[in-house]
Formats: sequence, structure tokens, C-alpha cells
Amino acid sequence: MALIAILPGDGIGPEVTTEARRVLERLGLDLSFEEAPVGGAAYHAAGHPLPPATLDLARRADAILFGAVGDPTCDSLDRHLRPEQAILGLRKALTLFANLRPAKMFAGMEDASALRPEVARAIDLVIVRELNGDVYFGEKGMRTTADGLRQGYDVMSYDEAEVRRIAVAGFEAARRRRGKLCSIDKANVLETSQLWRDVVIETAADYADVTLTHMYVDNAAMQLVRDPGQFDVIVTGNLFGDILSDQASMCVGSIGLLPSAALDVAGKGLYEPIHGSAPDIAGQGKANPCAAILSAAMMLRHSLGEPAAADRIEAAVAAALASGKRTADLGGTCSTREMGDAVLVAL
Ligand code: IPM
Ligand code: MG
Repeated sequence: MALIAILPGDGIGPEVTTEARRVLERLGLDLSFEEAPVGGAAYHAAGHPLPPATLDLARRADAILFGAVGDPTCDSLDRHLRPEQAILGLRKALTLFANLRPAKMFAGMEDASALRPEVARAIDLVIVRELNGDVYFGEKGMRTTADGLRQGYDVMSYDEAEVRRIAVAGFEAARRRRGKLCSIDKANVLETSQLWRDVVIETAADYADVTLTHMYVDNAAMQLVRDPGQFDVIVTGNLFGDILSDQASMCVGSIGLLPSAALDVAGKGLYEPIHGSAPDIAGQGKANPCAAILSAAMMLRHSLGEPAAADRIEAAVAAALASGKRTADLGGTCSTREMGDAVLVAL
């Protein structure tokens, strides 16, 4: 029996993971579930955003279903106690370095996109974002300059092994799809990006069947709204991938629709909607559970060897949306539970 760790977290995290769990339970697979607090919820309950018991559960589990972290009441805590440290800590502790963030247009949802329908219709891409390095994990701090000014700093760096393993993840993803990989960097300005580009080009020698291109991140931001259909797989660093994946979600229609997987080399994974905790709507039954439900589908595919069940969930979400069921983020009136129900009916 596979053990799934459910880490609901803060804000809308509990509401959306509850719906994802209902969908998983409905499949009749041999799964068991164990829940633990994470983020602000864990800080308030146990004094730390990632308590040892939660980390232990994450290590023991075959896969992790994660809600969201972020709690405004924690904003003035020391950084190491803030909710966001829980997800960053899990990614690092479990070496979940490869973040897959697919963005695909759902049929009939073009009107929800921030883009014109004919542009939006073509979106079918995956962002492969590096998760264990970059400016996120470099030396950081506050200091005082010689002129007595306060100065914040965060060091950006990647070593070649870190770049190579995420490049491999990108090439492998492209090979399974349409065979196109676009590496996104800022090599015209950053040394970190120059190394990134060099190593991606070296790695390409093993992937003659994949067409590799490079793009600067500023241009990529523009191309993503001008002509998102040009992208198949994007591989990029932690910071650029964070920003571009939020942008891609609006191209599809709502951040409430985009799932993600964070994988280690062996395929163990943490699965989470890319949206945050949305404290402004937490506890009101307004959140869109689709991203969490689609994250559960990715879990079945990437960590649990159940691709047919994953297909079933994805088809059920598409069918529920096509039948007109929509939460408020998509201009509809469904509650979180009603949207979950609609997916269960379609299943
Ligand atoms: C994401 C989030 C996180 C990140 C935050 C919550 C630390 O924005 O998963 O995209 O920046 O990686
Ligand atoms: Mg983000």
C-alpha cells in the first residue's frame, strides 16, 4: 500500500487538498493517507513551520500532497520561522530539484484567459524549474554599507552539476513530448546564466533528437504572452521559473488550474498547486480545487505508477470545466466543494 503524506498548510491549502483527497479516495486504489501540519499552521501548533514530525512523515511517505503555505500573521517573524521556509526546506531536505509545471489550455476555457482566444488556444507547455539552488538558497542577509545605508543581499549561483541534472530533466521531458526544449536564462548579464547556458549546450550532445533553443528571460516573458504556442518544454532556474510559471497560469486562465510536481532523481515527489495560500479568500469555500486535484493526478503518474488513473482525473477535470462548472476565479459561482463534486461526478 502506498502512503500519501497530506500537508494541507495555510489559507486555502486545507480546502483544496481535501477535495484532492476525495478524488484520490474515489479511485479505489490501494492508498493510505497521513496528515501533518506545515507552514504557518505548524508554526502556530508546534513553533516551527516544518516540525520534525512533518519532515519525518514526508520522508516516510511514497509521495506528498501539499496545499499551500503563507500566513500574513507570520510576516514579521525571523525568516527561518516563516511559513515559506517549510516548502523551501522540504524541497531541499528531500532533494526535490526538478519542478514540472505544465500549462495547457482546457477546451472551452479560452474566454477565461488573459490572452485572445486564438492565442490562448495553442498553449501546451511544461516549465521545468530548478528548485534546489539559485538566489533562493545562496548566502543572504542584511548589512550596513560604508555609507551607513542598510543593504540586503542574496547571492545567485549554480554549479555545473546542479545545472546538468535539471538540464537532463528538461531534455527528458522534451523527449517525451514534442521534442523542443527552450532554455531560459539571462546570459547577457549574469555569470550564473553563462554557466547555465554552457552546461545546457554540453548536455544537448546526449539528446540529438531534441531541438534546443535559448532565450533571455525578459524576452521569454514577452513571448509567453505574444505567442505561447511556440513553447513545448522550458527549462530554467529557480527564480525565473517561479515568475514565468505564475505568468503562464494567467495565460491559461487562472492560477487555480495549474498543478506541479517536485521530483528527486528517483521519482519521489511532492505535488502542489502552484497557487499560494490566498489568505483573502481562505475558509470561505471560494478556492478553485482544480490545481490541487490535477496535482494528485501528477502524483499518480510520476510517483505511484498509475498513469491510467492520472488520465482519468485529468479527463474528469476537463469534463467538469467543459460542463460549465467554475469557481469564482474563473467567473463562476461554484464553491470549492461543488467544484470537487463536479469532478467526482465526471469521474
Ligand atoms: C512557488 C511559491 C514558492 C516559491 C514560495 C511560497 C516560497 O511561490 O512554489 O512558486 O517561491 O517557490
Ligand atoms: Mg511562485
